[in-house]
Amino acid sequence: MTAQPSGDRVSTGVPGLDDMLRGGLIPGRPYVVSGTTGSGKSILAIQFLHQGVKQGERALLVAIDEPPVEIRENVRALGWDVGKIRILDVHPASKSFSKRVSMVEVAAQRSVGSLRDAGPSAKTEAMKQTAPEISIPSLQLMLKQELQDVKYSRVVIDSLTSLKHLSEMMDDLSTSIVSLLRFLSESGVTSLIVTDLPDQTELEPEIFISRGEIRLHKRMVANKTDRCVTIEKFRGSQHDTMPRPMTITETGVSVDSRKKIPKTTMKMLQAFTQYGR
Ligand SMILES: Nc1ncnc2c1ncn2[C@@H]1O[C@H](COP(=O)(O)OP(=O)(O)O)[C@@H](O)[C@H]1O
Ligand SMILES: [Mg+2]
Repeated sequence: MTAQPSGDRVSTGVPGLDDMLRGGLIPGRPYVVSGTTGSGKSILAIQFLHQGVKQGERALLVAIDEPPVEIRENVRALGWDVGKIRILDVHPASKSFSKRVSMVEVAAQRSVGSLRDAGPSAKTEAMKQTAPEISIPSLQLMLKQELQDVKYSRVVIDSLTSLKHLSEMMDDLSTSIVSLLRFLSESGVTSLIVTDLPDQTELEPEIFISRGEIRLHKRMVANKTDRCVTIEKFRGSQHDTMPRPMTITETGVSVDSRKKIPKTTMKMLQAFTQYGR
């Protein structure tokens, strides 16, 4: 049974996760959704935006990793109507990026499609060659323009990791991330910043700066994917400190907030996260 988020909380749209967050996210703050590749970050983030549009809110997806046509296809497979989610295509190879922003349905570009299967560094290198000018500050400027025009309640950046790889100014990275998160917070939007973790011991700057971190975990057990979620941090609120099992099905992500995870999974988590400290 999922608790209805009280008036002062924002529903994530993920059954069970709102319970772990004691009603949902605190509005107007930036949060990190972290995890390894395939852990379900993108699906969870879009589910969060979908929940917004279901409630009549405006929702914006800043798409860096995947072109909008692919996102729309993936989401349609989940049976969601994403027509109302605005997708800002910030891939450097996209026409809309080079022209600056607005809407976005750019046909899948060959360079993007063929890069999806490449390793992260090859991908980043090739992306850099197509457009070196993308950076966290330039994204912030784009967002500023976008948020001036439309009153969004929910924003997702998927992913900050790709954006960081594309940014040249590595020295100023933490400062740009602080500035971006601050901007989002001042804009009053509730935002999810998607962060890839190469492994579960990694701690990126945005994790320290954000107001909370929802971490997704997955491992293969006997050819089956075993998934769970932890709330690593949630400022200003109580939260569930136990890992809870998570599933991804044809209806999206869901969390069983009353169930314990298997002992073996718990042991694996203890090696990596706060549960071992
Ligand atoms: N209909 C579905 N049923 C079961 N699992 C699914 C379904 N759709 C997607 N998935 C799982 O979700 C994973 C992708 O999640 P995604 O959000 O793209 O991960 P991330 O963004 O963390 O890399 C896939 O690897 C697949 O295992
Ligand atoms: Mg993803």
